[in-house]
Amino acid sequence: MQDAIVAEDLVKTFGEVRALDGVDLNVPTGTVLGLLGPNGAGKTTTVRVLTTLLTPDSGHATVAGFDVVKQPNQVRRSIGLSGQFAAVDEYLTGRENLQMVGELYQMSAKDSKARAVDLLEWFNLADAADRPAKTYSGGMRRRLDLAAALVVRPPVMFMDEPTTGLDPRNRLALWEVIQDLVADGTTLLLTTQYLEEADHLAHDIMVVDHGKVIARGTADQLKAQTGGERVEVVVHDRELIGTATEVLRGFSRDDVAIDQHTRRLTIPVQGGAKLLAEVIRELDQRGVEIDDIGLRRPTLDDVFISLTGHHAEDADDNGDGGDDEGGDAGRRTADKAAQTRKDAAR
Ligand SMILES: Nc1ncnc2c1ncn2[C@@H]1O[C@H](COP(=O)(O)OP(=O)(O)OP(=O)(O)O)[C@@H](O)[C@H]1O
Ligand SMILES: [Mg+2]
Repeated sequence: MQDAIVAEDLVKTFGEVRALDGVDLNVPTGTVLGLLGPNGAGKTTTVRVLTTLLTPDSGHATVAGFDVVKQPNQVRRSIGLSGQFAAVDEYLTGRENLQMVGELYQMSAKDSKARAVDLLEWFNLADAADRPAKTYSGGMRRRLDLAAALVVRPPVMFMDEPTTGLDPRNRLALWEVIQDLVADGTTLLLTTQYLEEADHLAHDIMVVDHGKVIARGTADQLKAQTGGERVEVVVHDRELIGTATEVLRGFSRDDVAIDQHTRRLTIPVQGGAKLLAEVIRELDQRGVEIDDIGLRRPTLDDVFISLTGHHAEDADDNGDGGDDEGGDAGRRTADKAAQTRKDAAR
């Protein structure tokens, strides 16, 4: 199968920060790659290089067979982008925003109108279609931005954290739209903070941290790497965290993760429900009262702890702060995304 997206040894620095530190990736045509990583990992930078919004310092990338540095116009004609910060025209209605994109791409007025109607329906925006976008909630803007990226059915799509800020119902609705697109042959690179989302949508997952790819595989392969299931216990009495830790150590060769604040202990185990019963029995024998106990599958955070030794939320130690939602940086990103669409339409 041919690769719709290929990146080789991409490097991008911002002053002291190596936002991309030798990223290699490939996405076979018609598949979904999920790019997972904590804040500041380099996800958006990767997307911006691949969508021609940023020039890499070194390395090489092609999208739909075109070089992102040497053939930016051809790349832009082949892609759709939904950026991390919604890029919509505040003063136009939802319907007008979508029709405008169609017309920018030289669709007929009739086709643009019909496409807008379909997209408003898919994204649960039909009721708000004729209100200016400035009256939309955050989740509605996000959905309008995603809809705008789909007006022209590009063969290669990039979505940067498409479901951040969506409620569960809209998240599921978007997952369906994405699955339909992929069933129709679209290639998708999607970034997310949620393993569950990558799990559901992506054929292949890449974990990035500090500008480097630190793991790649299917969701099951990544979870298997983190040591399978976890027992999680919330101890009632803070004084007994030590005793409970001793008990848990008897059930696994891995370390017990202890959160003193929530009195929550977590340990990777093998053995499922039977083992859980034994843990409960032994805690009881040692006089440890518990508020909650359960067996759960690994989360993204577990994948991170196991791959990097730190929690996902602690990973951002390089002064990221310029990309906060709603800030100037966010607005610049939004403006850029709107500009790309306009450029692409030329
Ligand atoms: N325009 C810029 N100027 C300076 N530093 C930047 C710029 N863009 C990104 N960076 C830095 O590059 C690193 C990677 O940022 P990037 O936006 O790619 O992360 P991300 O994985 O998308 O994070 P998030 O989950 O917060 O969106 C961060 O340290 C960030 O501060
Ligand atoms: Mg980002």
